Amino acid sequence: MGQPVILDSVAALRRWREAERKAGRTVGLVPTMGALHAGHISLVKTMKGMTDKVVTSIFVNPTQFAPNEDFSKYPRTFEGDVKLLSQVGGDAVFAPQVAEMYPEGFATTVSLDGPAKVGLEDAFRPTHFAGVATVVTKLLLQALPDKAIFGEKDFQQLAVIRRFVRDLDIPVEILGGVTQREADGLALSSRNVYLSPEERVLAPTIHRVLTNAANSIREGVGIAQAELVAKEALEAAGFAVDYVAIRDTASLAAPKIGASPDSLRILCAAKLGKTRLIDNIAV
Ligand code: PAF
Repeated sequence: MGQPVILDSVAALRRWREAERKAGRTVGLVPTMGALHAGHISLVKTMKGMTDKVVTSIFVNPTQFAPNEDFSKYPRTFEGDVKLLSQVGGDAVFAPQVAEMYPEGFATTVSLDGPAKVGLEDAFRPTHFAGVATVVTKLLLQALPDKAIFGEKDFQQLAVIRRFVRDLDIPVEILGGVTQREADGLALSSRNVYLSPEERVLAPTIHRVLTNAANSIREGVGIAQAELVAKEALEAAGFAVDYVAIRDTASLAAPKIGASPDSLRILCAAKLGKTRLIDNIAV
């Protein structure tokens, strides 16, 4: 397959998008921070089946990292990313510089509530979703795609994006992509490269523990008890647990008493050494 066209400015992206519109073709956007893996590629493939052209954005967004987080060491593998995209028929790559996205004097952020304030990621990364919402709003308004897709691995992020897209009347359909996993259950993530060989062996424990918790809920164990057992199992395996929480899938709020297991999602964030891993599954 051919090389994707590289668009490094908003003006170039807008010209490309406008030409596709004039030609009567639909456009799908796959927003990423690069360091692409099979999870991202599955999002691109899904989008290829749904729109005529697919643009993948590659931008490590500084505003979603707190000062103590890994912005400077976040993996950047642009050439490899473009190669992977060319193998799956990615049509365009939008790769702006930070100054293009946040020019001198930039002073606006998207302010959030609802699923952005439910005590999960927001409790541990209080400035994160404002940065995500701001950059995703910009990407959507720059690319004006018909559809955009985000992985379910960042389940709260997906809920936040669905909420603000609806609230701000951004004319795009938001799709969720199923989490891709290694054979041992570890959810694919660009941050998995931080894991030492020993940590890599332990990392799939998260998926096993979440699966056990989901099974126990279906067998009638109470929510608080299932959360506690999961947290203790992760701690016993050597994780520092930020949260294990069973929530209503749609709102991410605490479930109502007697809620059907079918309406529940179990979400987790835990650190293994210096690497923070997140994952979630349906109950
Ligand atoms: O999920 C990600 O990779 C990022 O949060 C996103 C959506 C590309 C915004 O920077």
